[in-house]
Order: sequence, then C-alpha cells, then structure tokens
Amino acid sequence: PVIKVAAICGSIRKASSNRGLIRSAIEICEESVKGMQIELLDVSPLPMINTDLEVNGRFPPAVEVFRQKVLAADSILFASPEYNYSVTPPLKNAIDWASRPPNVWADKAAAIVSSAGGSGGRRAQHHLRQIGVFVDLHFINKPEFSINGHELPTKFDSEGNLVDPETKERLKKVLQALQAFTLRLQGR
Ligand code: FNR
Repeated sequence: PVIKVAAICGSIRKASSNRGLIRSAIEICEESVKGMQIELLDVSPLPMINTDLEVNGRFPPAVEVFRQKVLAADSILFASPEYNYSVTPPLKNAIDWASRPPNVWADKAAAIVSSAGGSGGRRAQHHLRQIGVFVDLHFINKPEFSINGHELPTKFDSEGNLVDPETKERLKKVLQALQAFTLRLQGR
C-alpha cells in the first residue's frame, strides 16, 4: 500500500516559504517518489489549545478533522520556521491538540525541514525532536535540510514557491529517506 504522509507547516503566512517547501515536496512525490502520497494539513483553523473545549470526550470540529488526518497518516513531514530559537506557536498548538488522549502521533515516522532566519531553523528542528520523544514520533536523522534567511531570495519566488533545482533535489532525498524509514518502522 501507498505510504500516506501528512504534511504540517509551522507558518500560517500566505507566502510562507515553508509551505512552499511542502508544495514542492508534493510535486516531487507525484513526479518521482513512487509509493508515497503527501497531503498538506491546514493548522490555521485550530483554536488555541484549551481543554475546556473538550466536551464529553469530543474535540472542537476542526480539531477532530485534524486528529483524524494525523491518525490516518503513516508518517509526518514537518516544515517550519524557527521563532525565538524554538518551534512556532501554530505548530506547537497543532502538536498539543493531536497529543491529547488518545495521542494520535504515536509510533509514526517523521521528518523535519525548515526555512528560517540566520540559523536556518536548526534550533527549532532540535526542539521539535525533543517534543517528538514525548509524543512518540520517530524522526529520521539524515539528511538534514534547512534553508538560511540569506539564501531565501535565491531559492524562493515572492509567493514562497521553491524554484531552485538543487534544493529540490535535496528535498527529494529527505522524502526518499522518510519513505525508507517508514517502511522499516512498519516492518514492510
Ligand atoms: C523569527 N525568525 C527567526 N529566524 C531564526 O532563524 N531564528 C529565530 O529565532 C527567529 N525568530 C523569529 C521570531 C518571530 C516572532 C518571527 C516572526 C520570526 C524569522 C523566521 O524564521 C523567518 O521569517 C522565516 O522565513 C519565516 O518562515 P515562513 O513564514 O516564510 O515559512
């Protein structure tokens, strides 16, 4: 069966370069990574985490939809900028909602890519890996993928579309590694 990947973007900006990475990953997958399908999950309709919104074991509708999609995925592709050396609030909010019992992240494979400022989001990547320990996500370690702020204008257009062929090739290697690791994790 085809590996289903849920892609989650840590930036809700219209011209987000990280969402551009996900759009590019979807295209690369359709063109040249057989056996894997990526769907972008929108985190912007999720309310701010508040357990008062859980009533009789039910979550708000947008949260239910998000949790179902995470649960149905074999693996997760995160693309996120770094905010003040960490993951962004929209991303942490999404992680927190889906971690409420039953934790729907459990035992899934994951990969993280980032486009951010000076450090390319590497500190946020490391924080996300730490969060992954508790929510039981299994991240691939290699290849690492990050894009520095000063590289941004040469790699993306003004709408956040990835336009650099060499970077697309590096992104493809991340997808191939995620696919191989997901198959291993599932004993396939
Ligand atoms: C940032 N940015 C940033 N960049 C970085 O490398 N390290 C950091 O600690 C921060 N901190 C930070 C805080 C806040 C509040 C904002 C709004 C921004 C820059 C940010 O990562 C950069 O603008 C990314 O390019 C945004 O990604 P999108 O929206 O294009 O996907």
